[in-house]
Amino acid sequence: MKMNIVERINKLKREKNAIILAHNYQPEEIQRVADFTGDSLELCRMAEKTDADIVIFCGVDFMAETAKILNKDKKVLIPEIKDTECPMAHQLSPEMLIEAKKRHPNAKVVIYINTLSKAKVLADGVCTSANAHIVVNSFEEDEIIFGPDRNLGYYVEKSTKKKIITVPKDGHCYVHKKFTVEDILKAKEKYPNAQVLVHPECDPEVQEMADYVYSTGGMVKHVLNSPEKEFIIGTEVDMITRLKIELEKKREKKKLIPLREDAICEPMKKITLEKLERCLVEEKYEVVLDEEIIERAKRAIDYMLSIGR
Ligand code: 13P
Ligand code: SF4
Repeated sequence: MKMNIVERINKLKREKNAIILAHNYQPEEIQRVADFTGDSLELCRMAEKTDADIVIFCGVDFMAETAKILNKDKKVLIPEIKDTECPMAHQLSPEMLIEAKKRHPNAKVVIYINTLSKAKVLADGVCTSANAHIVVNSFEEDEIIFGPDRNLGYYVEKSTKKKIITVPKDGHCYVHKKFTVEDILKAKEKYPNAQVLVHPECDPEVQEMADYVYSTGGMVKHVLNSPEKEFIIGTEVDMITRLKIELEKKREKKKLIPLREDAICEPMKKITLEKLERCLVEEKYEVVLDEEIIERAKRAIDYMLSIGR
């Protein structure tokens, strides 16, 4: 009998002892075929502990690089390399960090996981949106150089007494920048009983108006555990897909409303089932990083993983 593409992917995956990891913003068909779907931190932890021979990362460039850093002796593949860069990750250059360190010699450097490996080598610690405040507060120093997301910097500032020096001044995510206070007001008018959940990459005034500010993994936990029945989701639209899949597993129904229908992360949508199958067959595109970069960037990632969520 002729197999469909999902069956072929599953067969290849078994034959090659491969694991498919997918971020919460991946398209529905990818989330459904993945072995594990999660936020950046959950994906790091899964990449760290897997005993698969091949790790296939369905996400954007910095995420696949992180999986490689945590698995230097394994084959790490991304199904597409064209246009899968996270624009925010490219906003913080090593030169900017070197310059900031010169200006603030006593500061520690904490950078968002949404950065390239060549920036991570200069960091004392990496963080995700789920643990940024914990990583920042784990250092004794009073000053922290933090980048590239200015809005995550704002979020962290609220849970620390430390001085946060953001580099660059205007680092941002083009998807989360779209959300406005008006979007929340409109959504609340239409769905007065819904709770508003937004990501810390949203602008400060949007964070302030929301009921909760969470990483994408935090949103999953909140929606699944809350007795509430309606949620307005202020992050990338496929977050709703992830929540829908989790609710399906629990045979539960809750109303999920996207804060904006056009909050689409284009680089995340470049992964398709066809590309995933090709990736398994041809074992490309392999993530290749310089050995020294891996060693040095791993220290900052290991620091984060050692202190927990
Ligand atoms: P999470 O770590 O919350 O999944 O966020 C990753 C990201 O890129 C948000 O835009
Ligand atoms: Fe990068 Fe924004 Fe896409 Fe997240 S949503 S991967 S920060 S562009």
